[in-house]
Amino acid sequence: MNDRLSDEKRQLIEEKIRAQRAQQTSEAVQNIIEFNQTPADLKAQMDRFVIGQTKGKKVIATAIAFHYKRLANALKEALIETGGDIDIALRTAKTPKANILLVGPTGCGKTYSSATASALVGVPFIEEDLTRFSEVGYVGQNANDILVDLLLIAGGNPHVAQMGIVYLDEIDKIATDGVAFKDVSGKGVQKGLLKLVEGVENSIEIGRERILLSTRHVLFIAGGAYENLDQLVKKRMQKQNYTGDWQDYLLSEDLVSFGMERQLMGRFPVKIVYDALTSRDLRRIMTRSEDSPLLAYVEDLRAWGIELKFTDAALSEVARLAQREGTGARGLTGILHRVLIEDMYDLPGNYTGELVVDENYMQARLR
Ligand SMILES: Nc1ncnc2c1ncn2[C@@H]1O[C@H](COP(=O)(O)OP(=O)(O)OP(=O)(O)O)[C@@H](O)[C@H]1O
Ligand SMILES: [Mg+2]
Repeated sequence: MNDRLSDEKRQLIEEKIRAQRAQQTSEAVQNIIEFNQTPADLKAQMDRFVIGQTKGKKVIATAIAFHYKRLANALKEALIETGGDIDIALRTAKTPKANILLVGPTGCGKTYSSATASALVGVPFIEEDLTRFSEVGYVGQNANDILVDLLLIAGGNPHVAQMGIVYLDEIDKIATDGVAFKDVSGKGVQKGLLKLVEGVENSIEIGRERILLSTRHVLFIAGGAYENLDQLVKKRMQKQNYTGDWQDYLLSEDLVSFGMERQLMGRFPVKIVYDALTSRDLRRIMTRSEDSPLLAYVEDLRAWGIELKFTDAALSEVARLAQREGTGARGLTGILHRVLIEDMYDLPGNYTGELVVDENYMQARLR
């Protein structure tokens, strides 16, 4: 008797969970279908976190806002035609994609600005390292891994997963050097990538279910340092008698000269060069970004009753040292840690009140 009752209850709970999940799933899809941020809105939101890179933020915000607006419209239409079946709608909706290629030095915000924009739009974001791809080397497995990662980050919601953003890191590392028979693997990976970016469909087995997932509506952002690419662009500009900032003249053909496949570069119509962060940018990252690494330390120490303060001169010094390291904004955390580690160890439990870091303090700690 008791067992039967608990069986019924269990069933009831299972039904409730299922209904709740269905509700969440349709809400998440609805969120994308109702997407209505303008590029300027999105850029303004990005400004709260990403410092500098004004041109980059503008182009990313525009590309992403247009992508989701276009996708939303296409899905709305397809949903009317298919009587509300999102699976069929996703399969029939056509959206030309404007994938984005980001060129810029390490730690300047390529991944960060992409992740931030995705979070602001409310779509899943995953980062995939392309150097790992060359080892696997065949598109089916790579596509499968990416689709599974998207599914995981989308909380198991297959519809939302297929509308996410995939950041392909280190795309410059799969360049060939243009010499026949060398780097065959690089060429192979680029060919595979071409299919992935355009849209491949894979069915994934999860438990007893088979889920059909495709990358057709996934927006791809690829990032790479492309060291010395500026030399190639400048050389071409000189030949063609162009003057001006090389960053405004980057074309697919320059990337082809670098060792990228022409077809692949054609699938990334939006190309942006990010600037190396200046020490002024680095300082502003500490004082203005809502994700500031300094803010993280301030909050950590506040939890122990310690008010951390940096003088202007000390902030400038941290920025200067970080810039010298040449690892972009990543350098900030390392330097702040080195400056603060002694007090982070000693003070909690022994002291409450202000902790003022000035130039002398920095010098003493960084000796
Ligand atoms: N412009 C920026 N504004 C605010 N924070 C930044 C900026 N650039 C970088 N950061 C901080 O530095 C970290 C590293 O940056 P990010 O991961 O975007 O580097 P990246 O350009 O992708 O470099 P890599 O080529 O090495 O992957 C970020 O997580 C972020 O905290
Ligand atoms: Mg990165």
